[in-house]
Amino acid sequence: MKPLRTRLSGIRIRDAGRQDTEAVMQLVAAANPEDPEAFEGARLTLAQPPAGPLSHFRSLVILAEDASGNPVGALMGGAPTWLFEHDGLDHPDLVEGLLTRIGIVSAVSVHPDHRGGGVGAGLIRHAAGRFARAGYGLLTLNFFPALEGYYRRLGFTTMDTLHVHVGDGYVVGQRWGDTRVAAKPVDRYTAIVPVRGLASPVISGILPRSGVPQDAYFDGEQLRI
Ligand SMILES: CC(C)(COP(=O)(O)OP(=O)(O)OC[C@H]1O[C@@H](n2cnc3c(N)ncnc32)[C@H](O)[C@@H]1OP(=O)(O)O)[C@@H](O)C(=O)NCCC(=O)NCCS
Repeated sequence: MKPLRTRLSGIRIRDAGRQDTEAVMQLVAAANPEDPEAFEGARLTLAQPPAGPLSHFRSLVILAEDASGNPVGALMGGAPTWLFEHDGLDHPDLVEGLLTRIGIVSAVSVHPDHRGGGVGAGLIRHAAGRFARAGYGLLTLNFFPALEGYYRRLGFTTMDTLHVHVGDGYVVGQRWGDTRVAAKPVDRYTAIVPVRGLASPVISGILPRSGVPQDAYFDGEQLRI
């Protein structure tokens, strides 16, 4: 994979705050033109005061601006909502554990005049570093096929189903109807491992004692380790 160009001279990336609400909303509306309301929830996040471990507790909203302070790109992310809805995740402690380890970029968007200059890549790299420093192990995002090469060049593995080994051979699988998923380990414990018997690879090491050895296989119900 060729490395992604970044020509970020004069561009600064910083956490967004309440005063940036309209700028962020306008930018991210372009990430999902068919559903411009999709990111309205971000208004609530931005109304909150800054708080760790991300920019707003377990949400991250960052803004790229040019040398004059004009907003040129925005990224938002945080908790993957599927973790709250998955039938296989019925234990609150397990959900809580995964929420502190798996993050998602829910929108990234660059102003049309500034596309192709590395701002999008800069925002995604910055987000990966932030999730890593906050103790997460995996950064994920959903994408439409046109952007597959883009995310792969940024070091993501792309797949149809996100399989997460949560321990004892138990694998949680999440698939989306309209998009594929990209994932990138951001700590040294987490890895993406191909497993015999599963078409998509498995996330290894996201929780304690959830490592997946190279020779593991899936027997139709669980991982055999
Ligand atoms: C996708 C997006 C965030 C990329 O940001 P960017 O700053 O323009 O991208 P970068 O400068 O980091 O990288 C440019 C690369 O992305 C590729 N790319 C950007 N948009 C693309 C698209 N819609 N289809 C295919 N490739 C695309 C370019 O071909 C280029 O590849 P190259 O470096 O090999 O030439 C930006 O184009 C955008 O805001 N698009 C509209 C919103 C959107 O689709 N967001 C993603 C879904 S949440």
